[in-house]
Amino acid sequence: MDSTVYSKILGTGSYVPKNIVTNFDLEEKLDTSDDWITKRTGIKQRHIINPEHESTVLMAKEAGLEALHNAGLKPEDLDMIIVATCTPDKVFPSTSCLLQKEFGIRGCAAMDVDAACSGFIYALSTADAYIKSKKAKYILVVGSESMSRLLDWTDRSSCVLFGDGAGACILGPSNEAGIISTHLHADGNNDEILQASYNYYDKSKKSPIDHIHMAGREVFKIAVNTLGSIVTETIDKNGYSYEDIDWLVPHQANIRIIQAMAKKLKMTTDKVIITVDKHANTSGASIPLALHTAVSDGRIKRGDMLLLEAFGAGLTWGSALIKY
Ligand code: ACO
Repeated sequence: MDSTVYSKILGTGSYVPKNIVTNFDLEEKLDTSDDWITKRTGIKQRHIINPEHESTVLMAKEAGLEALHNAGLKPEDLDMIIVATCTPDKVFPSTSCLLQKEFGIRGCAAMDVDAACSGFIYALSTADAYIKSKKAKYILVVGSESMSRLLDWTDRSSCVLFGDGAGACILGPSNEAGIISTHLHADGNNDEILQASYNYYDKSKKSPIDHIHMAGREVFKIAVNTLGSIVTETIDKNGYSYEDIDWLVPHQANIRIIQAMAKKLKMTTDKVIITVDKHANTSGASIPLALHTAVSDGRIKRGDMLLLEAFGAGLTWGSALIKY
């Protein structure tokens, strides 16, 4: 009998801020157009937090509670909370500790993972290792981001691309295949093409955190190449072929990157979960938001084979092959 312990996704959840900013709203404030944004990125709108009652922790709480409910669990059942975020509410305590407090529980391990847009894959991979090694039973993995905090609303080349939101999943042990493999990579040598820096020592800057700076075209090219190799690595490592994948659940940065990956996998776009039009790039929240969307609307069903892939600042990139 196979005594391998797998980690399985037991439930998913999400939260997006009430406030929606459309491309047409941005047209009124910036030298941009719905046509440019749609053609270059696929984005039509983004959700933006109201800082008076929405934050990275509060969005994580709503997404986490929904995931717990769908898994039939309570916060007290958790052995660990992992939050993927590059936009925490505080330098410390971590978002995961603040989330534990919001849940009204104490004692379980709590940590944040910062791998920018690849954060959720890094967090999922960490949780998977704890469950497989039987060091934890139930883990909440959340991606929650307030990207709007890092935006310069006068910079049309970056502010149109990002949005806020949170997505979550509960992982628990199973004798049946769940997470089959995860693959993580980084290259810190390309840090400057995509960054948001601290301004601690620059007195001319008003805020301690700078806005996002991105060499868009360079990032685009590297993203397509590295994601192309990681999907091949993931499929080859497990002895699968492209036809075995039921759903591609990619990081939602740009529809053209997503289409390039679908082409590489010889998949038609109706087998790709696309939410970039509604959410824009929510960094570490984008994959769990997309996953929950497709689980909720019934497209992703138990037993389906999912390929998750992400690329982001660091540079970081990663993938996960999952039997849902
Ligand atoms: N509206 C109108 N025109 C614009 C806008 C805008 N919002 N933004 C830029 N332009 C103009 C530029 O000024 C430029 O004009 P010029 O030719 O007169 O100089 C022209 O459009 C083309 O600009 P590019 O930057 O070359 O456009 P490109 O086709 O590369 O698209 C984009 C830009 C959408 C950013 C694309 O490069 C991209 O998606 N890159 C990858 C993003 C990504 O994947 N990031 C990783 C994750 S993010 C993270 O980890 C936090």
